[in-house]
Amino acid sequence: METILEMKKIHKSFFGVEVLHGVDFDVKKGECIAICGENGAGKSTLMKILTGIYNKFQGEIIFKGENIEHLTPLEIQHKGISMIHQELNLLDEMTVAQNIYLCREPKKNGLIDFKKMNNDAKNLLKRLEKIDPKAKVKDLGIAKKQIVEIAKSLSFNADLIIMDEPTAVLTVNETEMLFQLIKQLKVNGVAIVYISHRLKEIKEICDRVTILRDGTYITTKDIDQVSEKDIAELMVGREIEEVNQKKYKGSGKAALEVRNISDDFLKNINFTLKEGEILGISGLVGAGRSELAEVIFGVRKPKQGDILVYGEPVNIKSPIDAIKHRIGFATEDRKGSGLFLDRSIRDNANIVSMLKNKNIFNNRKKEEILAKNMIDVFRVKCQSTAQKIKNLSGGNQQKIVLSKWIAVSSKILILDEPTRGVDIGARKEIYDIINRLAEEGKSIIVISSDLTEVLAISQRVIVMHQGEISGEIVGDNINEENIMVLATGIGE
Ligand SMILES: Nc1ncnc2c1ncn2[C@@H]1O[C@H](COP(=O)(O)OP(=O)(O)OP(=O)(O)O)[C@@H](O)[C@H]1O
Ligand SMILES: [Mg+2]
Repeated sequence: METILEMKKIHKSFFGVEVLHGVDFDVKKGECIAICGENGAGKSTLMKILTGIYNKFQGEIIFKGENIEHLTPLEIQHKGISMIHQELNLLDEMTVAQNIYLCREPKKNGLIDFKKMNNDAKNLLKRLEKIDPKAKVKDLGIAKKQIVEIAKSLSFNADLIIMDEPTAVLTVNETEMLFQLIKQLKVNGVAIVYISHRLKEIKEICDRVTILRDGTYITTKDIDQVSEKDIAELMVGREIEEVNQKKYKGSGKAALEVRNISDDFLKNINFTLKEGEILGISGLVGAGRSELAEVIFGVRKPKQGDILVYGEPVNIKSPIDAIKHRIGFATEDRKGSGLFLDRSIRDNANIVSMLKNKNIFNNRKKEEILAKNMIDVFRVKCQSTAQKIKNLSGGNQQKIVLSKWIAVSSKILILDEPTRGVDIGARKEIYDIINRLAEEGKSIIVISSDLTEVLAISQRVIVMHQGEISGEIVGDNINEENIMVLATGIGE
């Protein structure tokens, strides 16, 4: 197959620290090639260099026989490269169609032709999932936002599409839809660069895989030559042993009771979380998992129902109330509400305890110790506690989201997509931490669209479907098939 892209000896530094050390990368026409590497290995940076977002670097980039390393992002887009970014880049106040055709709106008599724009958007989205082109982006859940990003990248009719963690917030059905689309694009000669920590997906959809480790090119292999375990070992540079995940059932004591909770969407939700239990909540996108978490955390007001914490009815009207009742919520949307991107690791690490103590003048030294400890425990790849969150790699940002909730001594923890974008090694560490917290008597709800994650971590799984709990699965009966039957409502 003919080579469409060559990146040669790419070097890149941030603030004097080199993060890419002469990386080579090539893509063939009509193939799907994966880039694999641990959090902070340099995958997103390499792709941001390719798309012109970073223009200070050394090395050569040849696309369709032409040097493009000096071009601007817009010029590169015109050459036929588009990218779905790891962090969503949509304008919340605008509609779906406006976001897709931003700055390229179809015109009629000098004015924006809304009818055509909405129609075009509708046709694009048809290939993915039904989303109203006129809906405001802020009213969409994170998975739908991701689908809008995918539609946007398609709208450029590019010859090369880069997908940086496209499925991190998608469930099985949408992922399958995306894979069908990738296959179709390949047939049309479009090349795809696919970045994901879900190695199973890479085995399924990619033709080749390039491995980066700590900013260094390691190797490129045909996908049939390597197993998932081989890829993981090439990423980390050592053998990985399979650890047996402990799964905690909890004691008999009820830590959290949710009674008859209903609102416009949620229908009569009832369940009990036991002390020391790790409870999985599964379901397709839009099933109501995050809405339920928001009710418990006081972000969303239910029309009726009660919540009890350790047997006492509580009235949670805001996140501050929830935190007072020692409930923590690590949200799935780290860019939207999980983190203060412009603030340092230290500030983010301490923010929850600041809210809780209402003390803005926390002790600086204490803050520093807490942040340092967090970096150690989670092995956050960073330069110092003063580094801004927005300059961390995606997976390392996720570690901060989690650790800040673990730092304040919450008794009940809701973790929404806790390992979104986290690499396989760090994922195991996070599971160990969750297990340890459960062992210490904390009660944990894990919401995850990744079925392997739910299987790995919970002894009991509640499955939601269209705002209702469609069933509960316990112990050995927890498997992908049983979850999917309940999640899709086939069993009803
Ligand atoms: N704007 C920036 N300023 C400073 N350092 C940065 C910046 N962007 C990335 N880095 C650093 O460069 C390194 C590579 O980051 P990059 O985001 O490319 O990793 P990644 O492989 O995409 O990781 P992940 O799997 O977590 O998304 C990291 O050490 C990161 O902290
Ligand atoms: Mg990245």
